[in-house]
Amino acid sequence: MDRLLAEIQARDDVLLEGRSTTLIGDLLDAVLSPVGDAIKQILEGASAIADGAVYKAPGALGSDASYGGADGSLLLSDELSRPDNRGLEPIGAQTLAWFNKYKQHGASMADLIQTATLTAVVSCPGGPRIRHFVGRKDNSRAGPTGKLPTPFQDAKSLIDLFTAKTFTASDLIALIGSHTASKQRFVDPGRAEIPQDSSPNVWNTKYYSETLSSDNKTILVFPSDRNLATYSSTKAQWNTFAGAGADAVWKPAFAAAYFRMSMLGVNNLNDLAECTKVLPLPR
Ligand code: HEM
Repeated sequence: MDRLLAEIQARDDVLLEGRSTTLIGDLLDAVLSPVGDAIKQILEGASAIADGAVYKAPGALGSDASYGGADGSLLLSDELSRPDNRGLEPIGAQTLAWFNKYKQHGASMADLIQTATLTAVVSCPGGPRIRHFVGRKDNSRAGPTGKLPTPFQDAKSLIDLFTAKTFTASDLIALIGSHTASKQRFVDPGRAEIPQDSSPNVWNTKYYSETLSSDNKTILVFPSDRNLATYSSTKAQWNTFAGAGADAVWKPAFAAAYFRMSMLGVNNLNDLAECTKVLPLPR
Protein backbone atom coordinates (compact mmCIF):
# COMPACT_ATOMS: atom_id res chain seq x y z
CA MET A 1 0.00 0.00 0.00
CA ASP A 2 2.80 2.41 0.96
CA ARG A 3 4.57 1.60 -2.30
CA LEU A 4 1.39 2.26 -4.28
CA LEU A 5 0.87 5.61 -2.55
CA ALA A 6 4.49 6.54 -3.17
CA GLU A 7 4.10 5.68 -6.85
CA ILE A 8 0.95 7.79 -7.15
CA GLN A 9 2.69 10.68 -5.38
CA ALA A 10 5.67 10.36 -7.73
CA ARG A 11 3.33 10.52 -10.73
CA ASP A 12 1.66 13.63 -9.33
CA ASP A 13 5.03 15.27 -8.76
CA VAL A 14 6.06 14.68 -12.36
CA LEU A 15 2.79 16.09 -13.63
CA LEU A 16 2.60 19.05 -11.29
CA GLU A 17 6.12 20.14 -12.13
CA GLY A 18 5.70 19.41 -15.77
CA ARG A 19 2.58 21.14 -16.97
CA SER A 20 2.84 24.52 -18.68
CA THR A 21 0.82 27.30 -17.03
CA THR A 22 1.98 30.02 -19.42
CA LEU A 23 -0.80 32.35 -20.51
CA ILE A 24 -1.39 32.89 -24.22
CA GLY A 25 -3.32 35.04 -26.69
CA ASP A 26 -5.23 38.10 -25.59
CA LEU A 27 -5.31 36.81 -22.00
CA LEU A 28 -1.75 38.15 -21.77
CA ASP A 29 -3.23 41.66 -22.01
CA ALA A 30 -6.36 41.28 -19.91
CA VAL A 31 -9.05 38.90 -18.75
CA LEU A 32 -12.18 40.69 -19.87
CA SER A 33 -14.98 38.18 -19.59
CA PRO A 34 -16.18 35.18 -17.57
CA VAL A 35 -15.21 32.87 -20.41
CA GLY A 36 -11.77 34.48 -20.63
CA ASP A 37 -11.43 33.76 -16.92
CA ALA A 38 -12.56 30.13 -17.37
CA ILE A 39 -9.99 29.61 -20.14
CA LYS A 40 -7.30 31.29 -18.04
CA GLN A 41 -8.05 28.97 -15.12
CA ILE A 42 -7.73 25.88 -17.32
CA LEU A 43 -4.48 27.15 -18.86
CA GLU A 44 -3.19 27.73 -15.34
CA GLY A 45 -4.07 24.32 -13.94
CA ALA A 46 -7.83 23.73 -13.59
CA SER A 47 -9.10 20.52 -15.17
CA ALA A 48 -9.65 20.63 -18.94
CA ILE A 49 -12.04 17.67 -18.74
CA ALA A 50 -15.77 18.46 -18.67
CA ASP A 51 -17.32 17.51 -15.33
CA GLY A 52 -20.99 17.71 -16.30
CA ALA A 53 -21.48 21.29 -15.05
CA VAL A 54 -23.43 23.75 -17.19
CA TYR A 55 -21.13 26.49 -18.43
CA LYS A 56 -22.64 29.81 -19.45
CA ALA A 57 -21.72 31.45 -22.72
CA PRO A 58 -20.53 35.09 -22.50
CA GLY A 59 -21.20 38.00 -24.83
CA ALA A 60 -18.76 39.01 -27.59
CA LEU A 61 -15.95 41.60 -27.55
CA GLY A 62 -13.68 42.81 -30.39
CA SER A 63 -10.17 41.44 -30.99
CA ASP A 64 -7.23 41.19 -33.42
CA ALA A 65 -6.52 38.47 -35.97
CA SER A 66 -3.36 36.36 -35.61
CA TYR A 67 -0.92 34.41 -37.78
CA GLY A 68 -0.61 30.65 -37.36
CA GLY A 69 -2.10 28.37 -34.71
CA ALA A 70 -5.73 27.21 -34.49
CA ASP A 71 -6.97 29.57 -37.22
CA GLY A 72 -8.39 27.20 -39.86
CA SER A 73 -5.54 27.93 -42.30
CA LEU A 74 -4.77 24.19 -42.48
CA LEU A 75 -7.83 23.80 -44.71
CA LEU A 76 -8.34 27.36 -45.94
CA SER A 77 -4.89 27.61 -47.58
CA ASP A 78 -2.61 25.13 -49.37
CA GLU A 79 -1.11 23.82 -46.09
CA LEU A 80 -2.58 20.38 -46.61
CA SER A 81 -0.40 19.87 -49.68
CA ARG A 82 2.77 20.17 -47.59
CA PRO A 83 4.66 16.90 -47.06
CA ASP A 84 4.49 17.52 -43.26
CA ASN A 85 0.73 17.07 -43.41
CA ARG A 86 0.59 13.86 -45.41
CA GLY A 87 -2.06 11.53 -44.05
CA LEU A 88 -4.57 14.28 -43.29
CA GLU A 89 -6.07 14.39 -46.80
CA PRO A 90 -9.24 12.28 -46.15
CA ILE A 91 -10.25 14.01 -42.90
CA GLY A 92 -9.30 17.35 -44.46
CA ALA A 93 -11.70 16.72 -47.37
CA GLN A 94 -14.46 15.66 -44.97
CA THR A 95 -13.99 18.73 -42.77
CA LEU A 96 -14.04 21.00 -45.82
CA ALA A 97 -17.38 19.44 -46.81
CA TRP A 98 -18.75 20.09 -43.30
CA PHE A 99 -17.48 23.67 -43.46
CA ASN A 100 -19.18 24.31 -46.80
CA LYS A 101 -22.41 23.02 -45.28
CA TYR A 102 -22.27 24.89 -41.96
CA LYS A 103 -20.44 28.16 -42.72
CA GLN A 104 -23.78 29.74 -43.69
CA HIS A 105 -24.72 29.36 -40.02
CA GLY A 106 -21.59 31.18 -38.87
CA ALA A 107 -19.30 28.22 -38.12
CA SER A 108 -15.61 29.04 -38.57
CA MET A 109 -13.22 26.48 -40.03
CA ALA A 110 -10.97 26.91 -36.99
CA ASP A 111 -13.83 25.94 -34.66
CA LEU A 112 -14.98 23.11 -36.89
CA ILE A 113 -11.52 21.52 -36.84
CA GLN A 114 -11.55 21.63 -33.03
CA THR A 115 -15.13 20.33 -32.84
CA ALA A 116 -14.15 17.40 -35.07
CA THR A 117 -10.99 16.71 -33.07
CA LEU A 118 -12.67 16.77 -29.67
CA THR A 119 -15.58 14.67 -30.97
CA ALA A 120 -13.08 12.13 -32.30
CA VAL A 121 -11.22 11.95 -28.97
CA VAL A 122 -14.35 11.47 -26.84
CA SER A 123 -15.84 9.03 -29.36
CA CYS A 124 -12.81 6.76 -29.06
CA PRO A 125 -13.55 4.34 -26.17
CA GLY A 126 -11.70 5.65 -23.12
CA GLY A 127 -11.23 9.15 -24.58
CA PRO A 128 -11.76 12.19 -22.32
CA ARG A 129 -14.44 14.83 -22.93
CA ILE A 130 -12.30 17.95 -23.18
CA ARG A 131 -13.96 21.33 -22.63
CA HIS A 132 -14.74 23.00 -25.92
CA PHE A 133 -14.93 26.72 -26.69
CA VAL A 134 -15.85 28.30 -30.03
CA GLY A 135 -15.57 31.70 -31.68
CA ARG A 136 -12.08 31.43 -33.22
CA LYS A 137 -11.40 33.66 -36.20
CA ASP A 138 -10.40 32.10 -39.51
CA ASN A 139 -7.28 33.04 -41.43
CA SER A 140 -6.65 31.84 -44.97
CA ARG A 141 -2.97 32.78 -44.84
CA ALA A 142 -0.90 29.58 -44.73
CA GLY A 143 1.06 29.13 -41.50
CA PRO A 144 4.87 29.42 -41.48
CA THR A 145 6.81 26.43 -42.82
CA GLY A 146 9.39 24.37 -40.93
CA LYS A 147 7.45 24.41 -37.64
CA LEU A 148 6.11 20.86 -37.70
CA PRO A 149 7.93 17.84 -36.28
CA THR A 150 9.13 14.91 -38.39
CA PRO A 151 9.04 11.23 -37.39
CA PHE A 152 12.82 11.02 -37.62
CA GLN A 153 13.65 13.98 -35.39
CA ASP A 154 15.79 13.78 -32.23
CA ALA A 155 14.24 14.38 -28.81
CA LYS A 156 15.96 17.66 -28.03
CA SER A 157 14.86 19.41 -31.21
CA LEU A 158 11.31 18.10 -30.74
CA ILE A 159 11.24 19.48 -27.19
CA ASP A 160 12.62 22.82 -28.44
CA LEU A 161 9.95 22.97 -31.14
CA PHE A 162 7.16 22.48 -28.61
CA THR A 163 8.76 24.76 -26.00
CA ALA A 164 8.60 27.55 -28.58
CA LYS A 165 4.82 27.00 -28.60
CA THR A 166 4.56 27.28 -24.76
CA PHE A 167 4.52 23.52 -24.10
CA THR A 168 6.75 21.86 -21.53
CA ALA A 169 8.51 18.59 -22.30
CA SER A 170 5.90 16.84 -20.11
CA ASP A 171 3.11 18.39 -22.16
CA LEU A 172 4.72 17.01 -25.30
CA ILE A 173 4.97 13.53 -23.81
CA ALA A 174 1.30 13.71 -22.80
CA LEU A 175 0.18 15.04 -26.20
CA ILE A 176 2.01 12.48 -28.25
CA GLY A 177 0.00 9.78 -26.49
CA SER A 178 -2.65 10.45 -29.13
CA HIS A 179 -0.60 8.05 -31.24
CA THR A 180 -2.63 5.51 -29.25
CA ALA A 181 -5.15 5.99 -32.07
CA SER A 182 -2.92 6.50 -35.12
CA LYS A 183 -2.18 4.25 -38.08
CA GLN A 184 0.72 5.40 -40.20
CA ARG A 185 0.66 5.40 -43.98
CA PHE A 186 3.65 7.46 -45.06
CA VAL A 187 6.50 6.75 -42.63
CA ASP A 188 6.79 3.26 -44.12
CA PRO A 189 4.37 3.15 -47.09
CA GLY A 190 5.07 -0.57 -47.49
CA ARG A 191 3.31 -1.10 -44.14
CA ALA A 192 0.44 1.34 -44.62
CA GLU A 193 -2.33 1.28 -41.98
CA ILE A 194 -0.03 -0.25 -39.35
CA PRO A 195 -0.91 1.28 -35.94
CA GLN A 196 1.40 2.70 -33.28
CA ASP A 197 0.05 0.45 -30.56
CA SER A 198 -1.83 -2.84 -30.46
CA SER A 199 -5.21 -1.25 -29.63
CA PRO A 200 -5.66 1.69 -32.04
CA ASN A 201 -9.42 1.71 -31.45
CA VAL A 202 -9.06 2.35 -27.73
CA TRP A 203 -7.80 5.52 -26.03
CA ASN A 204 -5.31 4.01 -23.58
CA THR A 205 -1.67 4.07 -22.51
CA LYS A 206 -0.53 0.90 -24.28
CA TYR A 207 1.24 3.13 -26.81
CA TYR A 208 3.71 4.24 -24.11
CA SER A 209 4.69 0.74 -22.95
CA GLU A 210 4.70 -0.72 -26.45
CA THR A 211 6.89 2.07 -27.85
CA LEU A 212 9.46 0.91 -25.31
CA SER A 213 9.02 -2.83 -25.77
CA SER A 214 7.95 -3.42 -29.35
CA ASP A 215 10.09 -5.30 -31.85
CA ASN A 216 8.23 -3.36 -34.57
CA LYS A 217 6.67 -6.46 -36.13
CA THR A 218 2.99 -5.96 -35.33
CA ILE A 219 3.06 -2.19 -34.80
CA LEU A 220 5.32 0.55 -36.18
CA VAL A 221 7.17 2.73 -33.68
CA PHE A 222 8.23 6.12 -35.09
CA PRO A 223 11.92 6.86 -34.48
CA SER A 224 10.86 10.24 -33.00
CA ASP A 225 8.59 8.48 -30.48
CA ARG A 226 11.35 6.11 -29.41
CA ASN A 227 13.76 9.04 -29.14
CA LEU A 228 11.40 10.81 -26.73
CA ALA A 229 10.72 7.60 -24.80
CA THR A 230 14.41 7.15 -24.02
CA TYR A 231 15.68 10.74 -23.77
CA SER A 232 17.24 11.80 -20.45
CA SER A 233 14.76 14.53 -19.55
CA THR A 234 11.58 12.84 -20.84
CA LYS A 235 12.02 9.16 -20.01
CA ALA A 236 10.71 9.53 -16.42
CA GLN A 237 7.48 11.06 -17.71
CA TRP A 238 7.28 8.40 -20.41
CA ASN A 239 7.80 5.57 -17.90
CA THR A 240 5.08 7.05 -15.68
CA PHE A 241 2.59 6.86 -18.54
CA ALA A 242 3.88 3.38 -19.49
CA GLY A 243 3.26 2.04 -15.98
CA ALA A 244 0.29 -0.04 -14.89
CA GLY A 245 -2.88 1.96 -14.25
CA ALA A 246 -1.47 5.13 -15.82
CA ASP A 247 -4.63 5.95 -17.81
CA ALA A 248 -5.92 8.00 -14.89
CA VAL A 249 -2.87 10.27 -14.91
CA TRP A 250 -2.33 10.42 -18.65
CA LYS A 251 -5.84 11.45 -19.69
CA PRO A 252 -6.00 14.68 -17.60
CA ALA A 253 -2.45 15.52 -18.69
CA PHE A 254 -3.39 14.98 -22.34
CA ALA A 255 -6.58 17.01 -21.94
CA ALA A 256 -4.68 19.94 -20.39
CA ALA A 257 -1.99 19.98 -23.07
CA TYR A 258 -4.50 19.54 -25.89
CA PHE A 259 -6.69 22.32 -24.51
CA ARG A 260 -3.63 24.59 -24.73
CA MET A 261 -2.96 23.42 -28.28
CA SER A 262 -6.53 24.20 -29.30
CA MET A 263 -6.10 27.81 -28.10
CA LEU A 264 -2.71 28.58 -29.68
CA GLY A 265 -2.77 31.59 -31.97
CA VAL A 266 -6.31 32.49 -30.86
CA ASN A 267 -6.23 36.15 -29.92
CA ASN A 268 -9.86 36.57 -28.94
CA LEU A 269 -10.02 34.12 -26.04
CA ASN A 270 -12.08 36.63 -24.06
CA ASP A 271 -14.75 36.43 -26.76
CA LEU A 272 -15.17 32.67 -27.03
CA ALA A 273 -18.27 30.78 -25.94
CA GLU A 274 -18.37 27.40 -24.24
CA CYS A 275 -19.76 24.70 -26.52
CA THR A 276 -18.87 21.51 -24.63
CA LYS A 277 -22.50 20.42 -24.73
CA VAL A 278 -22.27 19.52 -28.44
CA LEU A 279 -19.73 16.79 -27.66
CA PRO A 280 -20.95 13.24 -27.15
CA LEU A 281 -20.63 11.68 -23.71
CA PRO A 282 -17.57 9.47 -23.06
CA ARG A 283 -17.89 5.83 -24.13
C1 HEM B 1 6.91 14.64 -31.93
C2 HEM B 1 5.94 15.08 -32.64
C3 HEM B 1 5.15 14.28 -33.62
C4 HEM B 1 5.53 13.59 -34.71
C5 HEM B 1 6.94 13.48 -35.29
C6 HEM B 1 4.36 12.96 -35.28
C7 HEM B 1 4.34 12.20 -36.41
C8 HEM B 1 3.23 11.55 -36.91
C9 HEM B 1 3.22 10.72 -38.10
C10 HEM B 1 4.43 10.46 -38.99
C11 HEM B 1 1.98 10.22 -38.25
C12 HEM B 1 1.48 9.24 -39.34
C13 HEM B 1 1.14 9.98 -40.62
C14 HEM B 1 0.86 8.96 -41.71
O1 HEM B 1 1.80 8.29 -42.14
O2 HEM B 1 -0.33 8.83 -42.12
C15 HEM B 1 1.19 10.73 -37.16
C16 HEM B 1 -0.15 10.44 -36.99
C17 HEM B 1 -0.92 11.04 -36.02
N1 HEM B 1 -0.50 11.94 -35.06
FE1 HEM B 1 1.41 12.55 -34.75
N2 HEM B 1 3.28 13.27 -34.51
C18 HEM B 1 3.71 14.08 -33.50
C19 HEM B 1 2.95 14.66 -32.51
C20 HEM B 1 1.59 14.52 -32.43
C21 HEM B 1 0.76 15.24 -31.51
C22 HEM B 1 1.29 16.26 -30.51
C23 HEM B 1 -0.51 14.85 -31.73
C24 HEM B 1 -1.79 15.27 -31.07
C25 HEM B 1 -1.95 16.33 -30.37
C26 HEM B 1 -0.48 13.86 -32.79
C27 HEM B 1 -1.58 13.20 -33.28
C28 HEM B 1 -1.56 12.30 -34.32
C29 HEM B 1 -2.74 11.58 -34.79
C30 HEM B 1 -4.16 11.69 -34.22
C31 HEM B 1 -2.34 10.80 -35.87
C32 HEM B 1 -3.23 9.86 -36.72
C33 HEM B 1 -3.74 10.61 -37.92
C34 HEM B 1 -4.56 9.68 -38.83
O3 HEM B 1 -4.66 8.48 -38.55
O4 HEM B 1 -5.05 10.17 -39.86
N3 HEM B 1 0.80 13.70 -33.19
N4 HEM B 1 1.97 11.54 -36.38
